[in-house]
Amino acid sequence: MTPDPKIVVALDYPAAAPALALVERLDPGRCALKVGKELFTRAGPALVETLVGLGYRVFLDLKFHDIPNTVAAACDAAADLGVWMVNVHASGGRRMMEAARERLAARTQPPLLIAVTVLTSLDRDDLAEIGCPDEPLARVLRLARLTQAAGLDGIVCSPLEAAAVRRELGAGFVLVTPGVRPGSAAVGDQKRVMTPRDALAAGADYLVIGRPITAAADPLAALAACEVETRED
Ligand code: C5P
Repeated sequence: MTPDPKIVVALDYPAAAPALALVERLDPGRCALKVGKELFTRAGPALVETLVGLGYRVFLDLKFHDIPNTVAAACDAAADLGVWMVNVHASGGRRMMEAARERLAARTQPPLLIAVTVLTSLDRDDLAEIGCPDEPLARVLRLARLTQAAGLDGIVCSPLEAAAVRRELGAGFVLVTPGVRPGSAAVGDQKRVMTPRDALAAGADYLVIGRPITAAADPLAALAACEVETRED
C-alpha cells in the first residue's frame, strides 16, 4: 500500500543541490514534497522527475491561472512528470477548473487537482482594492464551493479557515494547509499559524511545512516532532 503521509515538506530553495541535500535526509514513507515557483523556475521538470523517481509524492505548487485551454495543457504536462498533486487558482473560474479536471480525467492515475482560494497574504483591504467586497472567509467559502462544483479534489486554505470549509464542503474534500508550526517552532513571517495537531483537528488533510523542517539543524528530528503531533492521542 502507498503510504499517505500527512506532512508535505516545502522545498523552498533557490537550486536543486540544497533541495536534494535535504531530500537525501528525508524519507518518502514519512513526508511528501512541495516544489513551488522558485525551485521549479530554477531547477525545472528534471528535478521534479528526480524526486518522483526517489519515491516521493510531489505536490507541484505552480498555481496555474490562465485561459482554460492553457491551464488544462499545463496540468497535463504536470501529470506527465508523475506528480501526486497539482494546483490552479479557483479565481480562474469554473470553465478553467473544469477544463483542467476533464483533461486529467483521461488518465488512469491522475494527480489530485486542487485550487487556491484566497492567498493568505490578502486581507480585506487588499480584496476591496481589486473590486471584491467580500470578507476573506466569505470569499474562501464561495471559491471552495465553486471548486467543488467544478469537480476538483480540494483546496489550499489557511488552517484558520479549515473548520469552516470542512463544515460547508463536507468530508472527502481535500484540505491542504500551509501556515503550520509545531508547538516548539519559530513563527517566522507566517502571521496566522496553527500547530499540526490543531490544523488536523480543524479538518486539514495535508500540512505544508517548510522552514521548521528545512531550516532545522536536524531536519529528520524536526519532521519527527511534527509527526508526533499528527498522531491520534
Ligand atoms: O516555511 P513555511 O512553513 O512558512 O512554508 C510554507 C510554504 O507554504 C511555502 O512554500 C509557502 O509558499 C506556502 N504557502 C503559504 N501560504 C499560502 C500558500 C502557500 O505559506 N497561503
